Amino acid sequence: MITITLLSLIITLSLSTITLLLFTASRRKLRSPPGSIGLPFIGETFQLIAAYKTENPEPFIDSRVSKYGTVFTTHVFGERTVFSADAESNRFILQNEGRFFEASYPSSIANLVGKHSLLLMRGSLHRRMHSLTMSFANSTIIKDHLLVDIDRLVRLNLDNWTGRIFLMEEAKKITFELTLKQLLSIDPCEWTENLRKEYMLVIEGFFCIPIPFFSLTYRRAIQARKRVTEALHLVVRERRVEREKGVKKNDMLAALFDSDCDDVTFSDDEIVDFLVSLLVAGYDTTSTTMTLAVKFLTDTPSALAQLKEEHEEIRKRKGASVALEWDDYKSMPFTQCVVNETLRLSNIISGVFRRAMSDVKIKDYTISKGSKVFASLRAVHLGQDNFEDARVFNPWRWQKTSDLTNFMPFGGGPRRCPGYELARVALSVFLHHLITRFSWIPAEEDKLVFFPTTRTQKRYPIIVQRRNVVVE
Ligand code: HEM
Repeated sequence: MITITLLSLIITLSLSTITLLLFTASRRKLRSPPGSIGLPFIGETFQLIAAYKTENPEPFIDSRVSKYGTVFTTHVFGERTVFSADAESNRFILQNEGRFFEASYPSSIANLVGKHSLLLMRGSLHRRMHSLTMSFANSTIIKDHLLVDIDRLVRLNLDNWTGRIFLMEEAKKITFELTLKQLLSIDPCEWTENLRKEYMLVIEGFFCIPIPFFSLTYRRAIQARKRVTEALHLVVRERRVEREKGVKKNDMLAALFDSDCDDVTFSDDEIVDFLVSLLVAGYDTTSTTMTLAVKFLTDTPSALAQLKEEHEEIRKRKGASVALEWDDYKSMPFTQCVVNETLRLSNIISGVFRRAMSDVKIKDYTISKGSKVFASLRAVHLGQDNFEDARVFNPWRWQKTSDLTNFMPFGGGPRRCPGYELARVALSVFLHHLITRFSWIPAEEDKLVFFPTTRTQKRYPIIVQRRNVVVE
């Protein structure tokens, strides 16, 4: 009897131990990334903003990475967020768009870009429209068609430069004009300048606290968006009429009309939202990169000297012809190093937000369904384990490596930036004409800040002086 009782006790104890072990193991499997969620409601938002308002926001990420590892939990902008500073996890998050993760924007942003914007599209419609955008901005189209306009409009803008200018403002003007030309075949004129002014109000709305009844900036942005879309609606209507009369144009709007011929027809509302989202995505990004490339070069004279050599060589080779051609663009190896290094160090899009569509395992953690995730491109680009002297502008590093594993300035996966080649070409053409036509000095001290966007605090004022280019 005693033997039976002892045996059943041993069996019960063993079963309980096994159950406890299994439970602990499954708990460990479901472990969410460690971290701190700070104060109730506010979380760690103020710490993040305070850090990003300085020239060196890195300690915000560095301290958490050293405490919790490269994937950690924080609480910012009203929500618990899993933050990834890990290249492999970021790639996994971006490549699994539509499978485990989906893009996630607050409704305040959705109101500004419009509900038919590419940024908000999902599933098969997104795939189709993304590839349409890619096909409009790929290297063949740029080579055969867009480069001529990029080159011409950059030169046209530079013709007016004299004395003190705000480089950031000028770069924005250039990018806006380039984008309108590419989307709608409209050359710079009073109409484009008026549209740009409205458009700048819309952009301000992206970077304010979006409370419609309290934030004047947000309210103004929504009203300006209405005026921008009205103006674009007019253009779309006129172009439909022209098209019926047989007039053909070679731009994004024509590509949207042509895709009408397949199975889907786009309404004017859809087309206008689509155009607005392209304007949003390409405007601030490219112009800020232009400005920061010049700032980094100015602060690194040896890099500027080497870049000058490369472009003067091209100028000499071309003789009297000033317009750049595709072969010229393809013979700028050091320029491409400068562009890469600017994108790496400035991280205009510091990372992308996603939402988990199911429980997903990342590293040893489980990210539960519905969680918000921030794949930080910046943290990887500035990670000391990923790049040697990661926080120093060193374009020469790109001469030594072709490994792009840790380099994702244009994102990745199905939402990879469709304008990546266009941006690179615009940057290279801009640098070519700037360097061969002007010398410059900073007009006053200016510094980089990263909140609400990456930019220089004073719009980078410089004094330009025209160079006498001798063509041999
Ligand atoms: C230096 C310049 C640029 C940078 C750094 C940049 C960066 C990025 C990044 C990181 C994304 C991915 C967003 C995500 O995964 O949610 C993106 C998306 C996008 N970019 Fe760019 N971009 C640049 C220029 C441009 C230009 C010139 C265009 C114009 C065609 C453009 C159009 C877009 C669009 C439409 C998307 C959304 C794609 C989608 O959601 O499917 N970008 N960009």
